[in-house]
Amino acid sequence: MSSAACSQNIVVDGLTAFRGRIERMVHRQMSNELAGTVGLVTGASSGIGAATARRLAADGAAVALVARRKERLEELAQTIRADGGTALVVPADVTQRDEALGAVAAAVEEFGRLDTLVNAAGVMFNAPSLDIPLDDWEMMVDLNLKGVLYLVKGALPHLLAAAETEPRRVADVVNISSIAGRFARATVAGYNATKFGVSAATEAWRQEFTKRGVRFSVIEPGATATELFVQRDYMADYASALLSDLEQLRTEDIADAIAYIVENPRRIAVAEIVLRPIDQA
Ligand SMILES: NC(=O)c1ccc[n+]([C@@H]2O[C@H](COP(=O)([O-])OP(=O)(O)OC[C@H]3O[C@@H](n4cnc5c(N)ncnc54)[C@H](OP(=O)(O)O)[C@@H]3O)[C@@H](O)[C@H]2O)c1
Repeated sequence: MSSAACSQNIVVDGLTAFRGRIERMVHRQMSNELAGTVGLVTGASSGIGAATARRLAADGAAVALVARRKERLEELAQTIRADGGTALVVPADVTQRDEALGAVAAAVEEFGRLDTLVNAAGVMFNAPSLDIPLDDWEMMVDLNLKGVLYLVKGALPHLLAAAETEPRRVADVVNISSIAGRFARATVAGYNATKFGVSAATEAWRQEFTKRGVRFSVIEPGATATELFVQRDYMADYASALLSDLEQLRTEDIADAIAYIVENPRRIAVAEIVLRPIDQA
């Protein structure tokens, strides 16, 4: 082969590889794997929940956006619709049992079914146990733990129906726990208690419902760049000690993991994903 033909081949191969990469990126952004399905995402007004809702919608799901800040949800719904997706705004405080159950009912009433539940609403308040306000421990239990129980209880009949009657024959619950749901640390008692609870409950549900087509998965992220660390002034020292010299995960990294879980073929049930920034020991 002449050197001109050889270099032409290299250029053509390079172009083919480049095109393949672009196609994979486009596929990753918008796979359409979830076309016809319905997802409900709590904590959709910011951070991991917002990125997850955007991703599920980009991949074809109609999404119910649940959180308290209605304006944030409206903004996200507009973005999703502008990108050709379908979104329903469902303002709700999921620490309130009626509002949590009502959010599920609103999604099913609007879209007629429910295939995917992502529990991303959560708060983290860490401080020495002698100092932390008891109200903040209580709020973590109410939101991180009881909120998840309410959403799962409300969603289960609809998820089972989707797994039984819809063509995919599978439905998913993805609960966002934390590496604090696997490893306890001093000054993290309240958050540890709630996240260990979420991880444990998810495994119990996984065993209970896997033979009925509902997959339960837990994601345990490390430090991710969101508003989680700025909810309390007393968290400043904790946050700066944890986050200095660390490239945090991006919310899209967690959304990618969720898309991997729910877009897998029915035969693949992912029980648990732990993912940390490379610099986080
Ligand atoms: N960021 C991290 O490093 C990290 C690491 C591991 C695990 N996680 C977990 O990831 C999940 C998402 O957190 P994030 O990091 O994305 O933080 P974030 O940006 O602060 O998002 C928290 C979400 O929870 C919602 N929320 C708070 N109270 C609520 C309530 N009573 N009812 C309904 N929604 C409520 C917030 O919306 P409204 O205020 O509008 O209600 C917001 O959308 C949490 O469970 C967190 O524990 C985060």
